[in-house]
Amino acid sequence: MASSLGDDGLDLLFRTARTHNYWRPEPVDDAILRRVYDLAKMGPTSANMCPLRIVFVRSPAAKEKLKPCLAEGNVSKTMAAPVTAILGMDVHFFEKLPKLYPHADAKSWFKDLPELVLEYTALRNSSLQGAYFMLAARACGLDCGPMSGFDNAKVDAAFFAGTTVKSNFLCNLGYGEVSKLHPRSPRLLFEEACSVA
Ligand SMILES: Cc1cc2nc3c(=O)[nH]c(=O)nc-3n(C[C@H](O)[C@H](O)[C@H](O)COP(=O)(O)O)c2cc1C
Repeated sequence: MASSLGDDGLDLLFRTARTHNYWRPEPVDDAILRRVYDLAKMGPTSANMCPLRIVFVRSPAAKEKLKPCLAEGNVSKTMAAPVTAILGMDVHFFEKLPKLYPHADAKSWFKDLPELVLEYTALRNSSLQGAYFMLAARACGLDCGPMSGFDNAKVDAAFFAGTTVKSNFLCNLGYGEVSKLHPRSPRLLFEEACSVA
């Protein structure tokens, strides 16, 4: 068994992977969505709380429901994407802890905390899961187009009404149009972003 990824894998996940805004008209079926989730779910979260909840928006009716929630600049790419994942977070994630963390009473550590603390705990951990999700999607050959340009309250009302789930971010999924990519923007160097203490 390889103990680290080779160049092909590193390119697929990081070095040649890009954020896509234009999509080829190839469908994304349920089997690949399940495959992506089944990989992403294995990434670590605090007390294994797994607050991420996902709605895969694929049907024309669901896309129309999402459309008025989007910032103008995100409308056409989202309407054209084969699937748009709404990455949400269950702010009452503690309800599932008896299943997810069965060796201790982890529910009691969280259930009486103020909503604000629950919300930022869910945000931290669902954002981590969102990153695992994007890397899992890339590992399965999909391209991603993450977006925070939308009205969270509108998405919550349209897709999560009557639940304790709130939207975190959106991610278009499909097979990107590589010819329409703009040049990659620079990243911070190790020396600019890191120190070794
Ligand atoms: C959480 C998040 C929110 C983003 N929101 C938007 C958005 O609303 N609209 C948009 O066009 N791009 C959005 N982006 C895309 C970023 O600008 C893009 O990922 C970044 O510039 C890196 O591009 P690259 O992956 O091609 O190097 C978002 C990315 C992330 C991770």
